[in-house]
Amino acid sequence: MDLKWLLVRRITLVALACFLIGSGLALYTAAEETRQQNAAAAELVSRQLNLQLSRIDRSTDISTRFPDWDVISTFALQPGQCVEFRGSESWRSRSSCAGFDNSKDAPQWFIAFFSAFINDRLIAEIPLSYRGANQGLVIAGFDPSATAGRAWATVAPLLGLSALLISALCFVSYLVVDRALLPTVDILEGLNRLARGDLTYRLPTFRLTELNRISEVFNAVSEELKKADAERADLARRLVDMQEHERRHLARELHDDIAQKLAALNALAACIRRSALTNAPHIVDEVRELEKMASGSMISLRRTLTYLRPQEIDDLGLLQSLKAMVERHNQEARGQTIFTIEVTGDIEQLRSETSAHVYRIVQEALTNAAKHAHARHVHVSLTRESSMNEPRINLSVVDDGLGASSTSVLRPLTGSGLIGMRERVAALSGKFAAGGLPKGGFALQVEFPVVGQGA
Ligand SMILES: Nc1ncnc2c1ncn2[C@@H]1O[C@H](COP(=O)(O)OP(=O)(O)O)[C@@H](O)[C@H]1O
Ligand SMILES: [Mg+2]
Repeated sequence: MDLKWLLVRRITLVALACFLIGSGLALYTAAEETRQQNAAAAELVSRQLNLQLSRIDRSTDISTRFPDWDVISTFALQPGQCVEFRGSESWRSRSSCAGFDNSKDAPQWFIAFFSAFINDRLIAEIPLSYRGANQGLVIAGFDPSATAGRAWATVAPLLGLSALLISALCFVSYLVVDRALLPTVDILEGLNRLARGDLTYRLPTFRLTELNRISEVFNAVSEELKKADAERADLARRLVDMQEHERRHLARELHDDIAQKLAALNALAACIRRSALTNAPHIVDEVRELEKMASGSMISLRRTLTYLRPQEIDDLGLLQSLKAMVERHNQEARGQTIFTIEVTGDIEQLRSETSAHVYRIVQEALTNAAKHAHARHVHVSLTRESSMNEPRINLSVVDDGLGASSTSVLRPLTGSGLIGMRERVAALSGKFAAGGLPKGGFALQVEFPVVGQGA
């Protein structure tokens, strides 16, 4: 929930509670005063009636005049107050009330509440007896509208004041919190950028200590991540470079030594076969076998050499070796899939390791297309963009095959081939993206700067 509204709600609740307690206290005081006024009036009336009873008893007054209400109605009652004598003989019952100004009436709901829960508890009743004989009951009370009006007069200003206070408090706290939380917009933006992989964003310093601490920690974490990212890219580059270097070394060793020896062995076997045909025909078959084994080993060795380090990159250059690779795929596909390549700009000046990375990435992408896509067309596009300050290489391999959903939509694309490509691109400090296209098919996009590639 929004912090501003949470605070406004809490303040309103606390202020309401304060208002209720204040009104309760005010009501209690007003009720207590009313109760005392009723008790005093009932006491006065009962004393007056007692006096008359004692006069009747002493025959200075006559019994039929009891109760002499004329005297009692001259008593000063509070506005809205009523006194009543409920005689044991009903014809003796009397009552009188003082008028009150009802122009300042309380609202109906308040009068209803007041009469239901408070007014009746304030009525004073005093039983009147003379010489042990019950004469009746003296009752003093207020008209509910009058007492409610008086109580309302106490509570209403409190209500107005509280409403004003609550509004002012809410307004001020909303403004203060709103201002205090302004930096969270920056913090959220920073976190979003960090989540998107932008490690260059830094937060400014904030006035509030807590937010400033967040800013410091955020900046320190971003800096650390940036450093770790750079180190990781450097490590990845050195690893794949080293791997490429090692493969090249192995390939050269195999080519210069084993391949030569196998060729010599093959030639020797052919020579032995020819002289055995006349001198020792019984060993001709074995020698033929030997010859076959030597040439089979040569074919296997050539395949291994191509895997380790395609000789063509060194001999023909990157462009020709890529074209040869595409041609090989076309031959293997026998027209079922058409592989094409388009190269723009000079790509021959790349560092030897960089050329090897590009070659390997295209090799894996074409193998994947042939293996998983069942596409009609697979297109490789390699472009060197020199128009910008920093020349860049863009490589894309797009097919119109089954796309990522051809396998399993749920399974993330995490095969070792894609991981290998990603590592190579990281080594080139570039960007890598691979996945199914919305209109079907699969695309691989790679982009890396030429600067720092020794070009
Ligand atoms: N061109 C493509 N068309 C459809 N799916 C592909 C394509 N390239 C890769 N994939 C999917 O990505 C997965 C991972 O590829 P990769 O890492 O090369 O592993 P592998 O080829 O050994 O399965 C593949 O198993 C396949 O599901
Ligand atoms: Mg693969």
